[in-house]
Parts: sequence; structure tokens; C-alpha cells
Amino acid sequence: MPRPHVLVARAVFPEVVERLRAHFEVEDNPGDIIYSAAELSARLQGKQGAFTTGSERIDAALLDANAQLRAVCNMAVGYNNFDVDACTARGVLCTNTPDVLTETTADFGFALMMATARRISESEHYLRRGEWTRWAYDMFTGRDVHAATLGILGMGRIVQPIARRAALGIGMRVIYHNRSRLAAEQEAPIGARYVDKATLLAQADHLVLVLPYSAASHHAIGAAELAQMKPTATLTNIARGGIVDDAALAQALRERRIAAAGLDVFEGEPQLNPALLDLPSVVLTPHIASASVATRRAMANLAADNLIAALTGGAPPTPINPQVLASR
Ligand code: DGY
Repeated sequence: MPRPHVLVARAVFPEVVERLRAHFEVEDNPGDIIYSAAELSARLQGKQGAFTTGSERIDAALLDANAQLRAVCNMAVGYNNFDVDACTARGVLCTNTPDVLTETTADFGFALMMATARRISESEHYLRRGEWTRWAYDMFTGRDVHAATLGILGMGRIVQPIARRAALGIGMRVIYHNRSRLAAEQEAPIGARYVDKATLLAQADHLVLVLPYSAASHHAIGAAELAQMKPTATLTNIARGGIVDDAALAQALRERRIAAAGLDVFEGEPQLNPALLDLPSVVLTPHIASASVATRRAMANLAADNLIAALTGGAPPTPINPQVLASR
């Protein structure tokens, strides 16, 4: 049997590429070139599988140009770069990397919320510029996080680890909103209270976004939502760019209609709205919420496990559209 051919679309841990080489003919990308849509499609010619990240768009046009493709395996829990319906219609398995990054991402979300509320980036830049000459009673006064109200928009795996840190760690009151509600036995240990979106916006001292990006969540936080928040509130986005209307956020911050924002993800990233760069009240990080060494390694290995199983007749551990497997 000829070995399947796969593309590893971005640079990744060399040992993970070696694992794939044990099963496949592998074209990898050690130079970490970002392929255009046309180049990605061209490189996938003759390949049955792709190891992807959130940067590679897998859509109907690419699939139609690559009818031999059988599996696309994302090294990310988010998969808004996949047109899953188009994949499913063509029998292409999609996989992602849930669970292995949950606690690491919760750590980061918590750190970003803290840094935002306590003005850590802003004050560090001040110090680095050599402007610190004396202590002052009101220098970089921020907002308390302990005992404040944490609002979480979204649901799923990441909510509970964040809520647990908040409620059990530093005594925050936790409210959340999502289309569906946690089971009572999941809410109880963390004292999380389900509220409607308007209540969430109005009551949160620190609002954290953890919902997946889709057409339905596009600009879930825009000018109207920002206007409902407390002027003292902070907003932290560790979910996806596009969930927040970044232009509206920049304006709200400029007009001090909310206090501060912590952003790990941006509309159109790695480009970002230049207005955000001029605002000292924003903490900006380059999409690194899952970036601990151990977790990135676990994500890469899980994506490889999925690809190996998908193309060798095994059971991929984390399929997005498992119905494709059933119909094979
Ligand atoms: C994810 O896993 O979705 C993270 O955002 C990394 O891309």
C-alpha cells in the first residue's frame, strides 16, 4: 500500500513531524511560511491529509481543487478556519484539539484579566520610559479583582476552570451567559449564576469572553453592548477576533466608557486596529493564551494523533464531524 501524503502547513515541533514521517510522506514547512490560499491549495495537490493551524482556511474552493483530501487536523481547539459543512459534504474529516489546552488557557485568561484590571502593562511601560520618579497615592490605581463580579460570556470547557479560579481562589462572584446553561451540579461548586446577556453586561466588573467565533457571535460585543457595561469595568477577550468590534472598543476606551481591555485576539490578526495601539488602557498580547511549552506540545501531538488515525483506519480522538467516519 502506498503511504499517504500529508502537508504540515506550518512549522511545528520537529519530533511531531518525525512522528508523522513514520506513517506518511510528509511535506513540512520548517521555514514557517504563511501560504496564500492559492499556494496552500497547490501544496495540497496529491495529499490526503493536512496538519493545520488556525491560519489555514479550508473552504469549498480548496476542497474542490483537492478532491483527494481525506482529513484536515487543526492544532487548535477553535476551528473557524474550517468550513465544516463543506468538509462534511465531501467526506473530509475535521479534527481539533480540545481539552489539552483548557487549564493553560484559563491561567492566561486570568492573568490577562488581572493585568488589565491592575494596569500592569501600562505601568511597566511608564517605568521603562524612565518616568518613575516618586511614589504617589493615585499612581496607576486600578480595579480590584478579588471579591468583584466576574462575568463570563460563552460556555463550554473553559468556563469552569476560569470560574473555579475566580470563585474558589479569590472570592469572586461569578455570573455567566450563554445560549445554554450549565447543569445545576456544575454551577453549584463554583457558585456560578446564569443570567441574561443584559444583566451580564450591566453587572460584570470584569467581563471575560470565551465563546467560539461564528457568524452568530460576530461582534457579540459592539458599541451597544459596551454602552451597557459599567464605566469601571474591564473586558478580556481570549476567544477569537471578530467577537469584539475592535473599532467600537477603541472608541469606548478612548471615551472612558469602560475602564480597560485585555486582548489576546483581534479582528484580522495579526493586523490590528491601530487605534488600540494608542490606548494605554489596553493590554495587548499576540494570541498566546494556549502558549505554554507543555500545552503546545500536547496540542501538536493530539493533532498528529488525529491525522495518523484518520488516514490509517484508526479512531481519531477528537473529531469535529465524526459522521464522516461513520459513512466511510
Ligand atoms: C485555539 O486553540 O483555538 C487557540 O486559539 C490557538 O489557536
